[in-house]
Parts: sequence; structure tokens; C-alpha cells
Amino acid sequence: MSVPFFDMGRHLAPIRDSVVQAVARVVDEGDFILGSDVADLEARVARLVGAAGGVGVSSGTDALLVAMMALGIGPGDEVVTTPFTFFATAGAAIRLGARVRFVDIEPDTFNLDIARAIDATTPATRAVVPVHLFGHMADLKPLLAWAGRPGVAVVEDAAQAIGASCPLGMAGGLGTCGTFSFFPSKNLGGIGDGGLVTSSSEALLDRVRLMRNHGARPKYHHEVVGGNFRLDTIQAAVLLAMLPRLESWTRRRRALARRYATLFEQSGLTRDRTVVLPVQRPGFRHVYNQYVIRVRDRDGLAAWLKQHGVGYAIYYPEPLHLQPCFADLGLRQGSLPNAEAACREVLAIPIFPELKDSEQDEVVGRVVEFYRR
Ligand SMILES: Cc1ncc(COP(=O)(O)O)c(C=O)c1O
Repeated sequence: MSVPFFDMGRHLAPIRDSVVQAVARVVDEGDFILGSDVADLEARVARLVGAAGGVGVSSGTDALLVAMMALGIGPGDEVVTTPFTFFATAGAAIRLGARVRFVDIEPDTFNLDIARAIDATTPATRAVVPVHLFGHMADLKPLLAWAGRPGVAVVEDAAQAIGASCPLGMAGGLGTCGTFSFFPSKNLGGIGDGGLVTSSSEALLDRVRLMRNHGARPKYHHEVVGGNFRLDTIQAAVLLAMLPRLESWTRRRRALARRYATLFEQSGLTRDRTVVLPVQRPGFRHVYNQYVIRVRDRDGLAAWLKQHGVGYAIYYPEPLHLQPCFADLGLRQGSLPNAEAACREVLAIPIFPELKDSEQDEVVGRVVEFYRR
């Protein structure tokens, strides 16, 4: 049996009609740019994550970029973040002329090590950007206590974590602002690109709204230099049609994660740490945008899974601090060992709401076969 890493057709089939209807309605209304669906989605997502408001934008990448623009981050500023994330997290800061200070991760959650992040700040630090990687929130508590320091923003990169929570609250609802992605494979994924910035600062939201539309207010009068970071009405309408399903999708992801844990524990592979399972800290709600295990001989296992038709992905094969475009930072192999080890050892196995138990059995069976053969 082959098992897909993600099956878009299967995911969309039960909601195809409501998605098509949403698109048709917007086509009929013709209100394609910042139509009322955008404001509806902004309000719904903000309420969901416990923020005062939201601003829909063109992608998760642009959510980070426009949030940092609105915070006034630019040349001479520093942004502290993790090297074990999608490129956009760091790319946004660099594009604004800021310097990125990469800090190592926690080996178990793969998230930014907050104590080290605080240690790494300097008087030039304008933002710390924790990423709620794979759907498990970074430990914001010490950061929020510390970030009471004026002038240092906490930008939560919640692209992979809509619906995730920690004892303090929900992803994207706690920091100075939160950024989300609606890339199709995200837990709330549209039929194209999309993103959103949340915040509880009305002033910051207003600034993001201004920046999203070329800094124009009123039209053709430009207070500041912004860009076109608008979310399409069609995308907002589709996301609104999907939003009522998000909680049941998340529950299914979490049920699959529990089942993976049981199956791997029964296999014996976790006992000697041949396979290390993702952790969920007490009081945290992991939403498993990805189910990422850490394994011995990762590349061997990946080749074996490929040979047997089991989908997998490697998030991420190379840490950001060793990418050619960041060579000027002077970091080397060994500089951030936890992130580097994660890049060598992690493997994401299939988890999406429509994955069948029988397919999960096949995934675990193939992994067990590889180590027992
Ligand atoms: C952690 C993280 N940040 C930012 C992004 C960027 O989002 P988008 O692909 O919507 O631009 C992604 C998406 O892949 C992500 O996973």
C-alpha cells in the first residue's frame, strides 16, 4: 500500500461544494479587492486566537514582512530568531535591512530556546521572533515577562500553529503580534496563498492595514511607503467556508498523533531512542501541522520509505545559519549544534485529517521493518 504525505484531493472532497460556492459568490459580487469577506475573516481569526484584531495579507511571508515594517524594523536593528524554520521567518528581517541573530533551539520541541534568545539580545534588538514550529507553541512565558522591555517586540510566527495553545493563551494571541499562513498545506489552508497578522494593539493593526495598501490613506495620498500585501476576497471567502471545519480537523490530527505514539511505543523503537516522538509540553495543545520524528539513520529510513511508497518530508534539511545567503554572519558548522542535529535527524511522516488508520499502520509498519530487517 502506498501512503501519500498529504492528499489535497481527499482533503477538499467533503468541502468542495462550499468552496466552489464561495468562489462563485465572490465572482458574482465582483468585489475582488478587500471585499467584506476579508474583514469577516480577520474578525473571526482574531476572535479564535484571542487577539483584538487581524489584518488579512497576501501570504505568511508577507505577514512577517508587513508586521516588521509596521514595527519600524530596519537598518541597524537586530532580530533574534531560530535557524530551524522556514526561510521566510528570517528573510523578512533581512529584506528590511535588519540583522538576524540566530539562536539555537530546544532539542525536544525544536523551538527557539527562549532563555538563550533573551541572552542573545543586545541594545539593537528590536524583535524576538519565536516560531511555533510544527504546531507546538514556543515557550512564550519567560519571553513575555522579559519583553516588557520597551522597544522589543515579540512577533509570533504562528504560520504552522493556528489553534495551538499554551497555558497563557493561544498562538498569535500573546505576542506584540502574530503572523499566520494559509498556504494550502497549513492546518487552515486556502486554495492559493494567504496570510494574516493578529495583534491586540489597535495602533499596530492600523499601521499594518496602512502598509498593506501602499501606505495610502486616503487613496493616492501616501503617508508611508508600504506595498501591495492584500489578501484576495476570493481567498478570504474560501477560508471562511473552511473555518467551521478547523476544530474537527485539528482533533483528527491530534487523534492521529496519539495513535502514532501508541504504535511506536508498542513497536519498542522508542525505548532505545531509535525513534524519538514529538513532545507536547504539559498544558500545551499541539496541533500537529507536521508529525516530526527524530530517528537514527534518517537518510536510510527516508530512502526505504520512498522505495515502499510511503510519503515523508524533511523539515528542514539545512539550518538557516549555514545557508549561503547568511554566510556574512560568520556562523559555521557547530555554531548552533541542536539545530544542526535536528536537520540531520528529523523526518515528517504523513499526518492530515483524512489519513486512514490503516495507512498509519502501514507507515509505522514500514519504519519498524527498516530497523528490524
Ligand atoms: C514557519 C513559517 N513561517 C512562514 C511561512 C511563510 O508562509 P507562506 O508560505 O504563506 O508565505 C511558513 C510557510 O511555509 C512557515 O512554515
